[in-house]
Amino acid sequence: MSSVVTIHRGATSVVLDLESSMPALAHIGAAIEGFDPRALSLPVAKATLDAPAPIGILTENGTGFLGRPGLVGSRPDGSAWAPVFSRTGAEIESDRARFEMIDTVAELSLVIDVAVTEAETVVGSMTLTNNGSTDFTLVRLSASIPMPVHATELISFTGRWCKEFQPRRHDFEALSVIENRRGRTSHDQLPAIFAGSIGFGEHHGDVWGVQLAWSGNYEIAAERLADGRRHIQAGELLSPGEVVLSPGASYRTPDIVVAPSQSGITPASQRFHRHVRALNPLAGERKVILNTWEAVYFNHDLTTLRALADAGANVGVERFVLDDGWFGGRRDDTKGLGDWWVSEEVWPDGLSPIVDHVTSLGMEFGLWVEPEMVNPDSDLYRQNPHWTLTTAGYEPVLGRQQLVLDCGRADVRDYLFERIDALLEEYAISYLKWDMNRDLVQGSNQRSLDDPGRAGTHGHVVGVYDLLDRIRAAHPGVEIESCASGGGRVDLEILRRTDRVWTSDCNDALERQAIQRGFTMLFPPEVMGAHIGPHRAHTTHRVQALGFRTATALFGSLGIEWNLLDAEEAGLAKVAAAIALYKRLRPLLHGGDVIRFDHDDPSASVHGVISSDREHAVMAYVQMLASITTVPLPMRFGGLDPDRRYRVDVIDDLGSADEFGRARPEWMALETIEFSGRQLMASGLQPPVLHPESVFLMELRAV
Ligand code: GLA
Repeated sequence: MSSVVTIHRGATSVVLDLESSMPALAHIGAAIEGFDPRALSLPVAKATLDAPAPIGILTENGTGFLGRPGLVGSRPDGSAWAPVFSRTGAEIESDRARFEMIDTVAELSLVIDVAVTEAETVVGSMTLTNNGSTDFTLVRLSASIPMPVHATELISFTGRWCKEFQPRRHDFEALSVIENRRGRTSHDQLPAIFAGSIGFGEHHGDVWGVQLAWSGNYEIAAERLADGRRHIQAGELLSPGEVVLSPGASYRTPDIVVAPSQSGITPASQRFHRHVRALNPLAGERKVILNTWEAVYFNHDLTTLRALADAGANVGVERFVLDDGWFGGRRDDTKGLGDWWVSEEVWPDGLSPIVDHVTSLGMEFGLWVEPEMVNPDSDLYRQNPHWTLTTAGYEPVLGRQQLVLDCGRADVRDYLFERIDALLEEYAISYLKWDMNRDLVQGSNQRSLDDPGRAGTHGHVVGVYDLLDRIRAAHPGVEIESCASGGGRVDLEILRRTDRVWTSDCNDALERQAIQRGFTMLFPPEVMGAHIGPHRAHTTHRVQALGFRTATALFGSLGIEWNLLDAEEAGLAKVAAAIALYKRLRPLLHGGDVIRFDHDDPSASVHGVISSDREHAVMAYVQMLASITTVPLPMRFGGLDPDRRYRVDVIDDLGSADEFGRARPEWMALETIEFSGRQLMASGLQPPVLHPESVFLMELRAV
């Protein structure tokens, strides 16, 4: 028997090959009894090195690995640039392993942790320590997950403001790199990738989802070697000099989280969802929110906001969130950030008049903040210009007229903690919308205005985590929403300390269908802020029917971002019906398994949520554009229990299915109708003819 250890949980096992000093991940997926990596031992080709190097968890140039090395760095004299580690210890438990490694020449030690979680994701991290007597400058510490050679395709995510979470499929080429330098998770280079077998879909194919849990800069490489082997390598992207380990100091990588599946993307997504649910102490059903941003923007007027709160309470809203504009000189987006005192100009009696009104209506009160930022036109900046992440001698690059505060500094964090804590103490605030509205550029952590400093993104991100942790420890019941110009900071590490994300500033339901579908590939629906916007979407100017808007928002963490005072009676009644439906379905929507289907007609999208016992499901057939066929194609559902029968009820509470046919499919006319799970999965169910921008909703119950 070769030297292997297997760790496992549930149906997921990880085989670690210990043949070489550096452990390698030989298999991640369903258990394979007696897995022996020697089956894949490589022959030696001519004109190559004498012994093929393994793809260890840390790839090492010094062992003959010719792809991307996992560790890049050096000492001031240029030494220690190509370490090779020897294993000195291992602790193995049934579901986790820790390996201790040392390089006595480079004077570095490394600890590798791998664990299978209850969500059946695999989590790994590495910690590097400088044992030498000189500094070690670290440029890269990234772990490698080998992929089988039949993982020939990749899906990565791109996007932009108002069009986030756009999956794109491409070949597993020689080298593809996701490189993010925005200083926040970004709209366009997500720390996530799926690799899979040819043509892998929602319910077929071998799939490995990989996410890096980090909210700053990162690089994820998918590399195919000359011998055909391949790996995904992920870690933080460090700027030169950003992390310098003094003697005795350590650096720990962000977690890499892998979700394997032998039956397509949907089961891998479900594992990521369970992973997030386990991270979050406040996990569970999310309240219905009314956010004031698109309703009033910066026009804070107590009478209007009270009336808006009344209208919200009347339709069933549970939490009222006062957005930007309540503090300092913040009457528009050019000034005031940093001055976290309630503005006497707009709120002469403080926030109590609105907080008390909201809570008297039985709703919770939430408040918008953007703690990491400062406008040059603010008292905070005038007093502490050296608190920003800028570089002495250069004109700083502004974004939305603002600069980033260096949250790597304890005094900055103390100031922000004191301000936020004071607000949370003074008012009955149970929710913070925590925004972050610009990319970080040339950000140095200067001690004073003429100190050149060093690249400060790493320190900033660690500091933001620390600040969030402090606030959560002091106010454990307060929920926090992560926003960064919409969905610019959504990742597995920010979701450890935030409870919801603002998915996108785009409330256009057609765009939202695609954004939300991509989002659920990575994160669970209950954290996905989804708001019913106005008739004409502010960010696209498309005009959409209310039924389409409500049926789209239903599948996330529901909210309203619309001036309800402009809505007609009939519209308000429909919003109330949507909220009532959401509340009825919420245990399923926020606790069940999201399921997406591959549909043969690209003009439609089919998705739903099914309870883990397979008894109850809600499914949506979304006619996005007009179909090329005269009637829509049947929806083939997956994930049902093949041996049970399901009663199908059409949900028409929202009026979201704008029907357009001369006659409906016969099954819809029957009083009660049931089909076997096997049939619904094999040949499907026929939707009626629909206008574009319609959602046909169905509820399935096992009988
Ligand atoms: C960002 C957010 C919006 C809103 C504004 C306020 O753009 O994404 O939702 O909070 O800031 O300035």
